[in-house]
Amino acid sequence: MVCAMSGAGSQLALFLCGCYVVALGVPAAGPCVAEHQEAEYYVAAVYEHQSVLSPDPLALTSRKQALELMNQNLDVYEQQVMTAAQKGVQIIVFPEDGIHGFNFTRTSIYPFLDFMPSPQLVRWNPCLEPHRFNDTEVLQRLSCMAIKGDMFLVANLATKQPCHSSDPACPNDGRYQFNTNVVFSNNGTLVDRYRKHNLYFEAAFDTPLQVDHITFDTPFAGKFGVFTCFDILFFDPAIRILRDSEVKHIVYPTAWMNQLPLLAAIEIQKAFAIAFGINVLAANIHHPFLGMTGSGIHTPLKSFWYHDMENPRGHLIISQVAKNPQGLIGTENATGKMDLSHSKFLKILSGEPYCEKDAQEVHCDEATTWNMNAPPTFHSEMMYDNFTLVPVWGKEGYLQVCSNGLCCYLLYKRPTLSKELYALGAFDGLHTVHGTYYIQVCALVKCGGLGFDTCGQEITEHILYLSFVSDLRDDPGNP
Ligand SMILES: *[C@@H]1O[C@H](CO)[C@@H](O)[C@H](O)[C@H]1NC(C)=O
Ligand SMILES: *[C@@H]1O[C@H](CO)[C@@H](O)[C@H](O)[C@H]1NC(C)=O
Ligand SMILES: *[C@@H]1O[C@H](CO)[C@@H](O)[C@H](O)[C@H]1NC(C)=O
Ligand SMILES: *[C@@H]1O[C@H](CO)[C@@H](O)[C@H](O)[C@H]1NC(C)=O
Ligand SMILES: *[C@@H]1O[C@H](CO)[C@@H](O)[C@H](O)[C@H]1NC(C)=O
Repeated sequence: MVCAMSGAGSQLALFLCGCYVVALGVPAAGPCVAEHQEAEYYVAAVYEHQSVLSPDPLALTSRKQALELMNQNLDVYEQQVMTAAQKGVQIIVFPEDGIHGFNFTRTSIYPFLDFMPSPQLVRWNPCLEPHRFNDTEVLQRLSCMAIKGDMFLVANLATKQPCHSSDPACPNDGRYQFNTNVVFSNNGTLVDRYRKHNLYFEAAFDTPLQVDHITFDTPFAGKFGVFTCFDILFFDPAIRILRDSEVKHIVYPTAWMNQLPLLAAIEIQKAFAIAFGINVLAANIHHPFLGMTGSGIHTPLKSFWYHDMENPRGHLIISQVAKNPQGLIGTENATGKMDLSHSKFLKILSGEPYCEKDAQEVHCDEATTWNMNAPPTFHSEMMYDNFTLVPVWGKEGYLQVCSNGLCCYLLYKRPTLSKELYALGAFDGLHTVHGTYYIQVCALVKCGGLGFDTCGQEITEHILYLSFVSDLRDDPGNP
C-alpha cells in the first residue's frame, strides 16, 4: 500500500492558474488511507521512452522503412506493457513522438502516418478487425498490446485524414495530418482520440479546425481527460475539459524540452496536478542530449517522478493512484478539515484578519500585514520576459507582486535563513521569443546569486529550505 503522506517538512505548491504561489512550512494533511480502502485506488504506469529516431527526419522514406523504424519503438512498448501487466497496471501512458520521432516536414512524415477514422463515427477494434482500414499498422499493434496486457493504453502517433477540395480548409495535398493521442480500452477497442491543438513548431502537422475536448470513461477510475505537451499552458483544451468536475485524471503524452527556470517538465506537471486537485499521468520521451526527460504520476499531494540527464535509457513508473484525488482546494469536506496554512492564505487574500488559537489566547493577524515592511520591487529578465519581482526576505511573511493585470501572492515560512536569494515574480504580457504567445506567469525562483539581476537565471542545485519533500522518487517496489 502506498501511503500518500507528505509528512515532515515544507511543501511547495505552485498554482499556475489561480495565479498565486504558496510555500508552506506546515505539513499538509495527507490522506493516509487505511487498508480497507484499497479499492479506492487504481494502478497506473507511465513510460519515459528513449525513442529510436529516424537518422534523417527530412529524408523521404517508404512506408515499409517507416514501419520498420516504428516497429522498433513498438517492440519496446510491448515489453513495457508486459512488465506493467505483471504488476497489475490498469492504464499505461506512452509519450508524444515516441513511435515516429520528430523534426519532420509535412512531406517527410507522410510514410509514418496511420489512417485514423473518427471513433465517434466508427466503433473499431484494430487488433480484431485489422483489414477494415488500410495504413493502420501502428493502431493495430497498439490495440493488440492493450488486449495482451489487459489494460487501457494511451499512445501518441502521427495520423492522416483525407479531405475533399470542397472543404475550404483542406490542405493542397488533400489530407489533414495530425499529432494524435489514441486511447484503447483493455479489450483493444479504440475508445477515443485527441488531436493536438497547440502545436509547437511542428511543420508536419495541421491544427484541427475545432478543438477536441476529449474525456473517456474507465471502469476502474471514472473519467480521464487527454491533451498533449504544449497544450498544458493553454486554457483550451487543458482547463476547459476540467470544467467537467467528473474529470479527476489527465493522461498527458509529452515531448518536452526542459528549460529553466520556468519550463521544467516535472514542475509544470506537478503544478497542474496541485492547482486543479487532479491526478496527472505524464509520459515524456527520453533524450537527455536534447534536454528531454521528466515524466511522472502526479497526485495533488504527492508525485512519483523520473528525471535523469545521465542515464540514456527509458524508465517505467508504476504507482497506485487514488480514484478520488485529494487536494488543497475545495476539499474541506473530503479531508474533513482544510489545510491550515491554506485557509490562512485564503483569509489573507480576501482581506479578513486571520486568527489562530493557542492554549491561552487568540492571536489575529491584520489583513494589512501585506504591506508591512514591503520589500522593493525590481525587474529582471526571465526566459526573455521582463518580470516584476520582490525578494523573499526573512523567515516568514506574505508577499504580493503585480504585472499589468496579474497579481501573485506568496505566504511563506522557512525553518532557517540561508544566504540564498529567492524572489517572487509576475509577468503578464506577450512572449515573443521561440514562439509568440500571450502569457501570465507567477513564479517563485531561486536567484543565481545575491544580486537582483541574477533572478531568472538557470539554477540547478538543490534547495535546502524549500525542499519538495512530497516528491518521492519512484520506488520500483511500488505498488
Ligand atoms: C530537432 O530540432 C531541434 C530544434 O530545432 C534541434 O535542437 C534538434 O537537434 C533536432 N533533433 C534531431 C534529432 O534532429
Ligand atoms: C486497401 O488498399 C488496397 C490496395 O490499394 C485496395 O485494393 C483496398 O480496397 C483498400 N482497402 C480499403 C478498406 O480501403
Ligand atoms: C470493450 O471496451 C469498451 C470500453 O471500455 C466497452 O464499452 C465494450 O463493451 C468492451 N467490449 C467488449 C466486447 O467487452
Ligand atoms: C461542504 O460542506 C458544506 C457544509 O456541509 C456544504 O455547504 C458545501 O456545499 C460542501 N462543499 C462541497 C464542495 O461539497
Ligand atoms: C521592464 O519593465 C519596467 C516597467 O515597465 C521598465 O521600467 C523597464 O525598463 C523594463 N526593462 C527592460 C529591460 O525592458
